[in-house]
Amino acid sequence: MSNALKFGKVAVLLGGKSAEREVSLDSGNAVLEALLRSGVNAEGFDPQERSVTELVNYDRAFIVLHGRGGEDGQIQGALEWLGLPYTGTGVQGSAIGMDKVKTKQVWQGSELPTAPYRIVTKDSDLQEIVDSIGLPFIIKPVHEGSSIGMSKVEKMEDFAEAIAKATQHDAVVMAEKWITGREFTIVILNGQALPVIRLEPPKDVAFYDYEAKYNRNDVQYGIPCGLTESEEKQLQALCLRAFQAVGASGWGRIDAMQDEHGNFWLLEVNTVPGMTSHSLVPKAANAIGYSFDELCVVILEQTLTEATH
Ligand SMILES: Nc1ncnc2c1ncn2[C@@H]1O[C@H](COP(=O)(O)OP(=O)(O)O)[C@@H](O)[C@H]1O
Ligand SMILES: [Mg+2]
Repeated sequence: MSNALKFGKVAVLLGGKSAEREVSLDSGNAVLEALLRSGVNAEGFDPQERSVTELVNYDRAFIVLHGRGGEDGQIQGALEWLGLPYTGTGVQGSAIGMDKVKTKQVWQGSELPTAPYRIVTKDSDLQEIVDSIGLPFIIKPVHEGSSIGMSKVEKMEDFAEAIAKATQHDAVVMAEKWITGREFTIVILNGQALPVIRLEPPKDVAFYDYEAKYNRNDVQYGIPCGLTESEEKQLQALCLRAFQAVGASGWGRIDAMQDEHGNFWLLEVNTVPGMTSHSLVPKAANAIGYSFDELCVVILEQTLTEATH
C-alpha cells in the first residue's frame, strides 16, 4: 500500500463502555495490527480508559467501537468538535442505525420492506400485541447488538419472560414479527453492495444468537449465497437503498431475511460491524479480492476525502 504515512497519526478507537466491549476489543486490535502491518502510524485508543480530549493529539480516527457510545453518534459528535476525520457513518446516521425502531420507521417511510413490529412498554396490552403481529415473534432490546437480550416468543405464556430479559439491557423493547426463512448479510463498502453472504446458524438454535455469533464454530457462511443472480442483485440494490436511507455511509452491514414466499425483509443496519479476521465484512471483502489488511486501509482512506457524513 503506497505511502501509509499520508494518514499521519491514527487513533484506532476500540473497547468503550457498551455491552459489546469485548467484541470491540477483538475487532479493534485486529484493525490496529492490520494497519501497523501496512506501515500506518496507528495506536489503539480506548475511550473507556482515556479522555476523548486526548484525541486532539491524533490526525484521524478509525472507529471500531460497537454499540452505545461508539456506534450511536456520540463519539462521532466528539470527533466533529475536535475536527478529526473519522471512518464510516456520521452523527445522524449512527444515531438512527443504533435504534432499531427509528431505523424501521425510516425504512417504512422510504417504502423499504421491514417486518411489522410493536414497541412494548410495561403498560402495553400484551394480548393486543399478539393479536396485531401474530405469533411467533422476536423480542429485542431496541438499542443493543450481538443478539443481546433477544428471545423468540412462540406462545403467550413466554411473552412476559422475554420482555423481562430484554428490559435488563434496554428501557425500550420491541416485538417484531418472526420471519421464517433464510438469513443474509450484505456488506456496503464505499457506495457498493458486496457479494451477499448467507448465514446458517446451527439447527439447534432458534436464531443467530450471541453464542452462535461468537462462541461456536458451526455457523455456516455461504458465499456465494445460493440466491439466483437476479435475486442477489435485487437484495444488493435494496440494501444499498436501505443503507443510504438511514444516512449511513462509508462502510457497514445490513442484516436481512428472505421469507418462504421469496420476499426480502430488512432487519437492521450495523454502522460499525465486527472486524475480526473471521468477521463477515472481511469475508465479503475477500470475495472482491481484498485481504484483511487492504480492507482496513481502504476504510481508513475514507478519512482522506472531504467528509460526506
Ligand atoms: N424478525 C425476525 N425473524 C426471525 N429471526 C430474526 C428476526 N429478527 C432477528 N432475527 C434473528 O436474530 C438475530 C439478531 O437480530 P438483529 O436484528 O440482526 O440484531 P443484532 O444483530 O443487532 O443483535 C438475527 O441475526 C436473526 O438470526
Ligand atoms: Mg444483526
